[in-house]
Amino acid sequence: MDCKVSQLKPFGALVEPKNQKGKVQELEIENLKELFRAHQLVLLRGFETFDSSEEFSNYCESWGEVSLWPFGKVLELIQQDNPEDHIFDHSYMPLHWDGMYRPQIPEYQIFHCVKAPHPGQGGATTFSNTILALNSAPAETKKAWSKVTGSYQRKMEFYDSKTLSPIITKHPHRDVSVIRYNEPPCKRRGDLVNPPTLEFTGIDQQEVDSFHRSLENALYSPESFYAHQWQTGDIVIADNFSLLHGREKFVSKSPRHIQRVHVLSNPPFDNPGLESYQ
Ligand SMILES: [Fe+2]
Repeated sequence: MDCKVSQLKPFGALVEPKNQKGKVQELEIENLKELFRAHQLVLLRGFETFDSSEEFSNYCESWGEVSLWPFGKVLELIQQDNPEDHIFDHSYMPLHWDGMYRPQIPEYQIFHCVKAPHPGQGGATTFSNTILALNSAPAETKKAWSKVTGSYQRKMEFYDSKTLSPIITKHPHRDVSVIRYNEPPCKRRGDLVNPPTLEFTGIDQQEVDSFHRSLENALYSPESFYAHQWQTGDIVIADNFSLLHGREKFVSKSPRHIQRVHVLSNPPFDNPGLESYQ
């Protein structure tokens, strides 16, 4: 199948069929992985996708070992009526990395948009490229970040865990630094059902606010931040080792349905910061 590839701003690669719409399964995974390594995010748009979640997870198996959750392989992200956690609400979601509370951290997040919200309803998935954020941060700011460790505790339907991570750490398989950070809930962006408990050490308490502000500025800067507005049928493959991600809030009862699968790296990456896990 003939495809065209273009760059998303400020990072990411968009792959679309050139003439005729074809099945997404016909795209060479090795070529897509090359784009993934170069751009940290690949958007496949305009292809024929999947009729069932099983078909979707079968496709994801061609990327590597799919991570198994208590619910299975495919997380169905649909707003619930009375959610017990913000993940199933229509609220925003702070930036974080996936697997931070699990024994293994997946390299690939693969999303499939079954149904997109209508234009103007919100619900973008947000991505911050922490390699780019670190490249453009002043040396002094990076020095301040490098002294800090985040401690995160979260209890929800799928786990009850505690994890620790330095703010700046090494990418598990590449010689490059990345940021691992779960943003504290921010009142001005709205309330969260069941927020995590966060603590930051290695920093004077009077400097905590400016620490969070400097990270917010860097992670949401137009040079490192991409908000993906979903279209039905989109597939996004995102680098969970280099990016942080979150969600913009959306209008309640929007027809937003996103499926998500985690694919492990080869070899799988054991979570270095997991303190307790149930
Ligand atoms: Fe997530």
